[in-house]
Amino acid sequence: MGDIAVIGCGLIGAAWSALLQHHGHNVQAFDPDALRRADLPSRVAKLKAQLATLAPAESGALLVADTLSAAVTNADYILESAPERLDLKIDLLRAIDVAAPAEAIIATSTSSLLLSDMVRDVRHKARCIVAHPFNPPHLMPLVELFGTDPGVLDRADIFFRALGKVTVRLKKEMPGHIANRLGAALWQEAVHLVASGVADVGDIDAALIHGPAMRWAIQGTHLTYHLGGGPGGIRHYLDHLGPSQERRWANLGKVELTADVKNMLIAGIEIEAAGRSIADLEAERDRFLIDLLKLRDHL
Ligand SMILES: NC(=O)c1ccc[n+]([C@@H]2O[C@H](COP(=O)([O-])OP(=O)(O)OC[C@H]3O[C@@H](n4cnc5c(N)ncnc54)[C@H](O)[C@@H]3O)[C@@H](O)[C@H]2O)c1
Repeated sequence: MGDIAVIGCGLIGAAWSALLQHHGHNVQAFDPDALRRADLPSRVAKLKAQLATLAPAESGALLVADTLSAAVTNADYILESAPERLDLKIDLLRAIDVAAPAEAIIATSTSSLLLSDMVRDVRHKARCIVAHPFNPPHLMPLVELFGTDPGVLDRADIFFRALGKVTVRLKKEMPGHIANRLGAALWQEAVHLVASGVADVGDIDAALIHGPAMRWAIQGTHLTYHLGGGPGGIRHYLDHLGPSQERRWANLGKVELTADVKNMLIAGIEIEAAGRSIADLEAERDRFLIDLLKLRDHL
């Protein structure tokens, strides 16, 4: 088994490194920022400790390379998690393609860029794919895949599923892929509700986490409406409540992030966070996610 290269070792790269090591892969990591390279092992160790509460670790090695080409030269897979800038990704993917073995798959974590734009200068375009994780990627199961070669996608599917991931494939590329578009649509309306004075930030979040989000951990939006139709399922739902959905869709808000709207959001979140720091909120989230993952294992 060859190495797995992790290129860009910020929030996402560190989490990929932890997950890969936990599953017994040897990781070759590279980041142009020497500080990021230096503190990577300690950041990864914290994430691995979380993973060890879910399943025993197989513990591969973490090697921090001094150059990009040293990291990718012996890699089977390359997971690129550099900043979300098209110019930077174009240059980086081209450089990875030149230095990596011919059979290696090059996967970008991009949240919103199009693969076809990013691989503009790559010679072996078919081996490049989007493998978009969800933050925090060592815990969240979802990986959204897009690529042009079905054989490469099949290999990637096997690779990510062996890491415990649930993969979904896009049939066409789309900025924001699937889940971030759904998130953007929902957040647009949530911001609209704040901006138009319908409810406070905290109450809107409470409406989500104590309402639909509880169901969404087990059934998605389509299946949820299937059950909303009672014994008649989605067919009955569409006949009975389809028109009221269409009235709501026609009434959804558009919003701009003006200075006033930003201030309303910042002030609302300050109240909702109630003195909890980002680190406190991350720890709270991760404890809950770990419990939820254990619960899903028993379903
Ligand atoms: N943050 C999220 O919630 C999230 C979720 C899913 C996907 N992503 C995607 O993952 C990627 C990384 O995001 P992040 O949040 O980890 O960013 P980050 O800022 O935490 O980390 C980016 C890292 O890339 C390094 N870097 C800078 N230039 C580089 C180069 N030329 N080559 C290699 N590395 C370079 C930086 O030093 C930094 O350590 C982005 O494409 C983003 O869209 C982010």
